[in-house]
Amino acid sequence: MGEYRQLFDASVADPCAFWAQAARAVTWTRAPRRILDDSHPPFYRWFPDGELNTCANALDRHIEARGDQAALIYDSPVTGTQRVYTYRELLDATARFAGVLRDLGVGKGDRVVLYMPMIPEAVIAMLACARLGAVHSVVFGGFAAHELATRIDDAQPVAIVSASCGIEPTRVVDYKPMLDHALGLASHKPAACVIVQRDKHTCDLVSGRDIDWTSAMASAEPVDPVPVAATDPLYVLYTSGTTGKPKGIVRDNGGHAVALLWSMRHIYDIDAGDVFWAASDVGWVVGHSYIVYGPLLAGATTVLYEGKPIGTPDPGAFWRVVAEHGVKALFTAPTAIRAIRKEDPQASHADRYDLSGLKYLFQAGERLDPDTYAWATEKLGVPVVDHWWQTETGWAIAANPMGVQHLPLKAGSPTVPMPGYDVRILRVDGSQCEPNEEGAICISLPLPPGTLPTLWGDDARYEASYLCEHPGYYLTGDGGYLDEDGYLFVMGRIDDVINVAGHRLSTGSIEAVLAAHPAVAECAVIGVADEIKGQVPRGFVVLKAGASAEGLAEELVAAVREEIGAVACFRLVDVVPALPKTRSGKILRKTMRGIAHGKDEPVPSTIEDPTVLETLKPILQGP
Ligand code: COA
Ligand code: AMP
Repeated sequence: MGEYRQLFDASVADPCAFWAQAARAVTWTRAPRRILDDSHPPFYRWFPDGELNTCANALDRHIEARGDQAALIYDSPVTGTQRVYTYRELLDATARFAGVLRDLGVGKGDRVVLYMPMIPEAVIAMLACARLGAVHSVVFGGFAAHELATRIDDAQPVAIVSASCGIEPTRVVDYKPMLDHALGLASHKPAACVIVQRDKHTCDLVSGRDIDWTSAMASAEPVDPVPVAATDPLYVLYTSGTTGKPKGIVRDNGGHAVALLWSMRHIYDIDAGDVFWAASDVGWVVGHSYIVYGPLLAGATTVLYEGKPIGTPDPGAFWRVVAEHGVKALFTAPTAIRAIRKEDPQASHADRYDLSGLKYLFQAGERLDPDTYAWATEKLGVPVVDHWWQTETGWAIAANPMGVQHLPLKAGSPTVPMPGYDVRILRVDGSQCEPNEEGAICISLPLPPGTLPTLWGDDARYEASYLCEHPGYYLTGDGGYLDEDGYLFVMGRIDDVINVAGHRLSTGSIEAVLAAHPAVAECAVIGVADEIKGQVPRGFVVLKAGASAEGLAEELVAAVREEIGAVACFRLVDVVPALPKTRSGKILRKTMRGIAHGKDEPVPSTIEDPTVLETLKPILQGP
């Protein structure tokens, strides 16, 4: 483990020296002299006296050397469009859109919510916010009005940027009515909404509030980058917690730029001029870090793909994009590979394209099962690199650092902790597990640069969610173990978060929708295994006395789609006579999960009525 081990040890022995060195890759308007402010543990701030602009680092500083190089390739099989933006063109559009936002009153520290499909305007709007020192908060397009409204109320944006529609393979998703509905539900009312009208479907604009993107851009004046403190927020990205209320993950400017630049070179082996493609969505952290900021900070070319791995038009879609744009590294979720494999088990579509430029397939978002790993390795003939991270960390906690050293891969393991992440496996009592003993995966504080400094407007929830369980450590929410070689194995969440097709969802928020139905007395939602999506949610409801079960399942499925969004993939719901509980009334979700996964789950001694579990068993083990 020579070179990797040296780097890792250096990062743990002297984090300040390690990250001070890494920070040299960033262009600062005021270089940091202090590297870490650790005066208020468990809160830490990286580069506290540094000052920079993230957009200037992603665009302006590349103009001299690579102004005419492609910065962004937009490839949209769902609209039959391709468009290349050079660094110069992307900077021009971004500076002008920053002018549009400034004229709407957006300034340093103000929030802007983006509810956008995978179009270049989404990237431009993110970078324009960064240019102004404003804070963007992107909401994934697959979320419906209620989820959007919750985020609007929490972020309190000055403006919203959206589009007339998103385009899914089988339907056009009308974004505007969802936005209007969300604004009706939210207590906070932003003054302006900028709307991108798409050819496929245009929408009505509300007079006095909505502004057409194209007209606004026609008269916009470009804006120069505004320097901000390294510790100022760049964005807030909401993610599912264990309750229905999403957590606003805060990302700062300085630590983020330093960490992402480090990761592009050392983890992904990407340099300026290389083509990198993260086949994710700008609504997720992968999209933030590796569609937008990481590749652009590095002077690479990023691909923005508006399509799916299958059906747009066939399971060769990914291989076409890789070949056509000369992609060196592809980053996607295992679910996408499983979907391709199901439709094209022999990978015959891959043979239609020249994939010789592809050097790596990176996988994250959910556990990479050994079958999918073996299939992709055999069919692509390149290293298939699993790496593990979360919205909270913004970059990989564990990976195989391709730009440092190719460590031997072990199926089922995302390899080893990355520099700065001192990973420990802890027992419930806080003691450390032995090698190969499963426990809670924790990270010694301080976390490295680029990770969350807190939750938006809620330091107390940040502490309660991540730092209180094991003082001195960040609780990742995942369980797993380190083997005798120091390889990490991530076995799954130990809380009520589930991962559906690489999308992170809270079973608590689905339960909140079910519980609101007038016929439902109580309910539980758990994640169950799915061949393609990894996990899907499954609901169990108990009726109120006298309520009818007729048509209830359909109504509940529709309600979840309406409230949370299609992305929840909620289709399985059973009416059951009772739910298993402890004597203090806590529903035994973990036990239910275990039984549904065919485990020989021990019956907890605290169970109130063991016969309830016996009755439920065949239903849980059924289809
Ligand atoms: N806007 C609006 N609706 C969206 C959406 C978006 N951005 N993204 C997904 N949806 C909708 C879909 O249309 C679908 O609706 P439907 O129930 O009417 O069919 C629903 O949400 C579920 O979508 P999805 O999870 O994408 O499932 P799918 O069956 O359409 O496709 C896969 C399955 C595996 C091909 C797809 O999930 C996939 O590509 N996953 C990769 C995920 C990923 O990259 N995650 C990021 C982590 S790295
Ligand atoms: P998100 O915040 O949406 O990126 O989801 C983070 C969660 O996804 C993690 O806490 C894990 O449960 C899961 N996850 C992400 N990457 C991996 C991986 N490579 N292996 C196992 N689980 C993963």
